[in-house]
Amino acid sequence: MTDISTDRILIVGAGLGALYAALKLAPRPVVLISPETLGEGASSAWAQGGVAAAMDENDSPDSHARDTVKAGAGTVDPDVADLVTGDARRYILDLTDMGTPFDRTADGDYVMSREAAHSFARVVRVKGDQAGAQIMAALIEQVRETPSVQALEGVMAVGLETDGGRVTGVAVQAAGDARSAPIMLRAPAVLLAGGGSGGLYAVTTNPPRIRGQVIGMAARAGAAIADAEFVQFHPTAMDVGEDPAPLATEALRGEGATLINRDGERFMTAIHPDAELAPRDVVARAIYAQTQAGKRPLLDTRDVLGERIKDLYPAVAEACARNGIDPAIDPIPVAAAAHYHMGGIATDKDGKSSLDGLWVCGEASSTGLHGANRLASNGLLEALVYARICADGIVADVDDVADAPLVQLDFTSGGVPPERDAVMTLRQCMTNCVGVERDASGLKTALRTIADLEGQYGDSPSFLNMCATATLIAAGALLREESRGAHERIDFPETSEGPALRSQMYLKDAMALRDQICEEKQ
Ligand code: SIN
Repeated sequence: MTDISTDRILIVGAGLGALYAALKLAPRPVVLISPETLGEGASSAWAQGGVAAAMDENDSPDSHARDTVKAGAGTVDPDVADLVTGDARRYILDLTDMGTPFDRTADGDYVMSREAAHSFARVVRVKGDQAGAQIMAALIEQVRETPSVQALEGVMAVGLETDGGRVTGVAVQAAGDARSAPIMLRAPAVLLAGGGSGGLYAVTTNPPRIRGQVIGMAARAGAAIADAEFVQFHPTAMDVGEDPAPLATEALRGEGATLINRDGERFMTAIHPDAELAPRDVVARAIYAQTQAGKRPLLDTRDVLGERIKDLYPAVAEACARNGIDPAIDPIPVAAAAHYHMGGIATDKDGKSSLDGLWVCGEASSTGLHGANRLASNGLLEALVYARICADGIVADVDDVADAPLVQLDFTSGGVPPERDAVMTLRQCMTNCVGVERDASGLKTALRTIADLEGQYGDSPSFLNMCATATLIAAGALLREESRGAHERIDFPETSEGPALRSQMYLKDAMALRDQICEEKQ
């Protein structure tokens, strides 16, 4: 493999965490590895809800931390919740200074959306459902004007190199040409900020390239993975036959939109006292049950928003229009879809992984903030907080250089692309067997299917990364013999008593379990 060394800090990903870290590292030279043009294809840019922060004078970081801990079903690290929520306000002010046009009231206060399981309207927003896109646009403008940041667009990370337990480089390919031979890019430090795993599922709200590859490559390099089994399903992905499924933001339910089925029955009132604003896992399970029963769940915004949805929630309105739905007249068909991976690469309070030289922020990480069920709009907040923490840690750990030449990559052919059908089989298997409802039999089927696919198509590093993460999720779900938060075992429906434990696993242990299952008589 061709190798290139750089003195730049290497950042894998181009979402909110990646861009914010690059800016906080300035003027230290960094190189961003971005599969797409900046702003395209990153989950952050697709976030509709916004960023949770106690900005209202009646609200407080303590209340935000309490809601975070409560939603997480016993597995949130309370110190991490205090750390992240305590600083939220200053990040909103920083994003405002960087040019994010947050919605304001006539008095100049931030307009706050209400989302499920928050005690207050606590989500700062931009043009209704444009928060992710607008925050990203503001940061991209800053990044483009920051000379220390080199963005390698159209480049995808496919592996990590280690030497004596330290990460020393990242193997990269041309994103648009998975047949390009990987190049090893060696750097003094690596920050992984490349998103989660939603796209490992056939029904997902995540952008197409987000299929657990970043978590998988770290796991394959020997990093510890935490809480892998905790995958959040969003209750109101639009069920309109698009892949990925467009999101109908939870803020709509915060406005008073209701969930009904094709018989017009409002089913959430019988399930939870908070009805449509029950914790996300509760609503996702109810939607899933309606779908499974053939009752076609629908999000009804007609009474509460009528025609106003078209101005107030342009992304939702556009997705409706694309699919011939007028939400002022017709309720929107919805389904539960893989949305956010609470698990990921285990990080300490400094954002460091178990491998030296490797920091992680954003959805690829598992800091302990989200537990078994992430509180809505805490994802972007966590990405910001840990991007800064990681940047500080890298500055403290790595010798400074004033400048570093731009990295030039010249790809040649020789790589193996992931087989499209194999990826689709993997995704369908995850939705069918490791989805909203799980049991031992389905999880074992998943592990066998993943092993089989890996055996057949394991020449592609990108596909191996996907299979690694899928294996970790399924193995973690099999080992957790209880139901907790988003992890619902229909064969173990109760939540275990006593202190809840986070899970931690290495890929080699998950593979050993997978081998054992494959050897079992079916
Ligand atoms: C939403 O807008 O419903 C998604 C917010 C989130 O997942 O944090």
